[in-house]
Amino acid sequence: MATPTITLGIETSCDETGVALFSAEKGLIAHALHSQVDLHAVYGGVVPEIASRDHVRMLLPLIQGVMAEAGIEKADAIAYTAGPGLVGALMVGSGLANGLAFAWDCPIVPVHHMEGHLLAPMLEENPPEYPFLALLVSGGHTMLIAVRGLGDYQILGTTLDDAAGEAFDKTAKLLGLGYPGGPLLAALAEEGNDKAYAFPRPMLNRPNCDFSFSGLKTAVMLQVRKAEALGELEACRADIAASFQRAAVDTLVGKSIKAADSEGLERIVVAGGVGANRLLRSEIAERFSGEVYYPRFEFCTDNGAMIAVAGALRLAEAEAAKEIRAQARWSLDTLTTPTRI
Ligand code: KG4
Ligand code: ZN
Repeated sequence: MATPTITLGIETSCDETGVALFSAEKGLIAHALHSQVDLHAVYGGVVPEIASRDHVRMLLPLIQGVMAEAGIEKADAIAYTAGPGLVGALMVGSGLANGLAFAWDCPIVPVHHMEGHLLAPMLEENPPEYPFLALLVSGGHTMLIAVRGLGDYQILGTTLDDAAGEAFDKTAKLLGLGYPGGPLLAALAEEGNDKAYAFPRPMLNRPNCDFSFSGLKTAVMLQVRKAEALGELEACRADIAASFQRAAVDTLVGKSIKAADSEGLERIVVAGGVGANRLLRSEIAERFSGEVYYPRFEFCTDNGAMIAVAGALRLAEAEAAKEIRAQARWSLDTLTTPTRI
């Protein structure tokens, strides 16, 4: 099968509708994103039914927009997020992708959302070579993965409770910040003293690659209650935010470097929403002796470009699907390396 020239990527796994066109020759040629953050903010979290309905409303106009921008009427291939995620939201992307592939008579590939995140740095000018260690940190996942090739993913460690993004979001909520709290907490932390409170660095000294953030969250909660009781919360919110962020980042960076060293990996990719955290990016670059790669800020959080590039890479190995997929749970280490046909 000839390598498709232009791949349309579709992302609808959660609360962002993302679409993009990735050209085998020119790289990313157009992308668009509609965030539902404002719709969900009033509920303090993502409401699945509202998410699905808004994907229905936005997906087709966004696709029409990028097609018009690129001056094309059909793509040569389609890649869509097939999971993991909210199943109703996934079905919107999966259904439209499969309909368009039928109409355009083109190959289609279901993409694992986290594979999209870990391949997002491939959109940049200086992409990482295999093998590398991926630190995947999002609202739903925290994982360390040894990436030895496309589809060759060994999960070295994962979180035993909250994901890193979830820990940021829940801490932000305790501090009275809005949703999603990660970026708001990071902004507040800039004004605080990160040595004000000695919060725990969970599992940092354990030999394995697993994470746990619930103890850190509890320590913050106790501190917030204490400050509230003393009527001092307002005065120490920024210090709590900074001390929490420092503890979370120390844990993520320490565990990543340990994992890379023990696996003999000289490159680290940081991806997923929490990968947009500036302290995490600067600390890991400073402390790791090898190379560190990240997607640009806008492609750390969910987007269609990472799905387009992941699908294009798989389709270059001729992996077209013969089934429609939308699955809420899907482990990254069950993916296979594409085989050439
Ligand atoms: O990858 P993503 O967009 O969605 C999921 O697949 O979950 O990640 C969203 C998560 C949220 O928890 C959000 O608070 C967090 O990434 N996040 C951040 C920052 N920007 C986004 N966390 C810390 N610092 C940031 N700058
Ligand atoms: Zn994501």
